[in-house]
Amino acid sequence: MWKSEPSFMMGLAYLLHLLRVYMTKELGFSGSITQLQLAASLSCSFLPPASNQMDSVGCSIPINQMAEYFNSELNRTVVQLRKELPLAVLTYVDVYSVKYKLISHADEYGFTYPLKACCGYGGGKYNFNGNIRCDSPVVVNGTLITVKSCKDPLTHVNFDGFHFTDAANQWFFDRINTGAYSDPPLSLADACLKHA
Ligand SMILES: *[C@@H]1O[C@H](CO)[C@@H](O)[C@H](O)[C@H]1NC(C)=O
Ligand SMILES: *[C@@H]1O[C@H](CO)[C@@H](O)[C@H](O)[C@H]1NC(C)=O
Repeated sequence: MWKSEPSFMMGLAYLLHLLRVYMTKELGFSGSITQLQLAASLSCSFLPPASNQMDSVGCSIPINQMAEYFNSELNRTVVQLRKELPLAVLTYVDVYSVKYKLISHADEYGFTYPLKACCGYGGGKYNFNGNIRCDSPVVVNGTLITVKSCKDPLTHVNFDGFHFTDAANQWFFDRINTGAYSDPPLSLADACLKHA
């Protein structure tokens, strides 16, 4: 279980520590208002999970739990830092929820394939093979092949098993930009203007 993984918990504590140091040092040096948009971007992994660890959408349950835990710890840190640094402007952006929304309701938003890699190998629900990756020439059964982008990337959320497609990133941005996933819920433009 990831919660009992010392490396995960240490990594998380270290990240939050860096955030704290960055914020206090920055303010200590300049005394000015510092703005930070925090993006918690762990989300559904595109790597096929074991079937007993898969949720109804096809995402990995332990990775989802890890992301949710990471985000709640990040939020806790942000809430605390707002108290410690009243001049700082901290925006928490819940990238996890917006990504999960698209992956879980892809068809409603015009995407045909929520999980299938556009540039992948092997077919099936994920079209992913860790040894045969996008744009990396490799010999498969004696033949040199290079996996290329699909013809219809606009219908895919998952680009290559690791990255989102441009179309998915645009979809995320359009929603994050409104402030709907932000705390406080200001559009990106307003969050910047307010404190310029
Ligand atoms: C962050 O934590 C505070 C205090 O517990 C809570 O009121 C707020 O809703 C949380 N925000 C998010 C985005 O989870
Ligand atoms: C290689 O060929 C074998 C036999 O046809 C096949 O079972 C296997 O899936 C092939 N490997 C890949 C990576 O396509």
